[in-house]
Amino acid sequence: MPTDFTAHLAARLLAWWDQHGRKDLPWQQNPTPYRVWVSEVMLQQTQVMTVARYYDTFMQAFPDVQSLAAATADEVLHRWSGLGYYARARNLHRAAQLVRDQHGGVVPTDFETLSALPGIGRSTAAAILALSAQQHHAILDGNVKRVLARVFRIEGVPADSAVQRELWMLAERCTPAQRVAHYTQAIMDLGASVCTRRKPACAQCPLREGCQAQAAGLTEQLPTRKPTKVRPLRQCVLLMCARADGAVLLERRADTGIWGGLWGLPEISSVDAAGEWCSAQFGIAPDQIHSRPVLRHGFTHFDLDITPVECRLAQVPLRAMESDRWLWYNKTAPAKVGLAAPVTRLIDSLL
Ligand code: ADE
Repeated sequence: MPTDFTAHLAARLLAWWDQHGRKDLPWQQNPTPYRVWVSEVMLQQTQVMTVARYYDTFMQAFPDVQSLAAATADEVLHRWSGLGYYARARNLHRAAQLVRDQHGGVVPTDFETLSALPGIGRSTAAAILALSAQQHHAILDGNVKRVLARVFRIEGVPADSAVQRELWMLAERCTPAQRVAHYTQAIMDLGASVCTRRKPACAQCPLREGCQAQAAGLTEQLPTRKPTKVRPLRQCVLLMCARADGAVLLERRADTGIWGGLWGLPEISSVDAAGEWCSAQFGIAPDQIHSRPVLRHGFTHFDLDITPVECRLAQVPLRAMESDRWLWYNKTAPAKVGLAAPVTRLIDSLL
């Protein structure tokens, strides 16, 4: 093994990427700062193949930062539906408005200014500028942390600040002066396709000879995992009020929280509270009420058991409802709003 593998890593990685790397992803065509920014935010927590299915449609709706800034939050969340982690979409939208209002509508290509925008951390800003403007910045996303922790045998949880500092230092030292965009893409691709979390394909790895985890038989143990916590289980009861024409009542969620800004089914305190809730809201009691089997939805940090209660309203509700909080959503002519994934599933299951 060379004494300082940081000096050799880029050349090997670039030779591998030239032969095996992905070069035909939608955001790699015409990689402007805006296009790369949108792709990097989508890729923060979503797999390449999923992002590839949503990216072009999103870009057709919002081809530039002006159109994104001018859109309503509902339109942006609607186009984001399916990608999950909606805080990313809300930050992207707010950042586009800041670019319009404070930066003359031009995505900043200065590192400090770009990384001050909502949703753009150090690594995302570095990736945007390396990939779209050939600027020399090191990145350190989850894939890169894994590659570096293995190659340089960095033990300890990456979230720990001393480990983090060491990984950043290595990331900086490994980033080459030449071909920084290709290198940036290459190290992310290696982490996503070869140096994977489980069952890494070490036989195909261009860094195998310099990899200290491989030499020590520690590949599966690195990066060190956080001790697993028991995932909490939360519960809620969601009301599915359906009118005779098939429309279902949705409520806009507050802007914070896991479903912030999305439209969801009203949440009630218990199955037994359904009848009274409808009488209070609509001025009429529902025709039928029945609870449905529990639906479990997994979030990053907890599981949610949803008990759906279906209420059928034979008559038209007697009370008018504020339009910015309530929406009668008809899936045959759906309003363009963002819906959380389990809500879409529940609405689809209504006859
Ligand atoms: N993860 C984050 N950004 C990525 C990119 N540009 N390519 C592949 N995976 C990524």
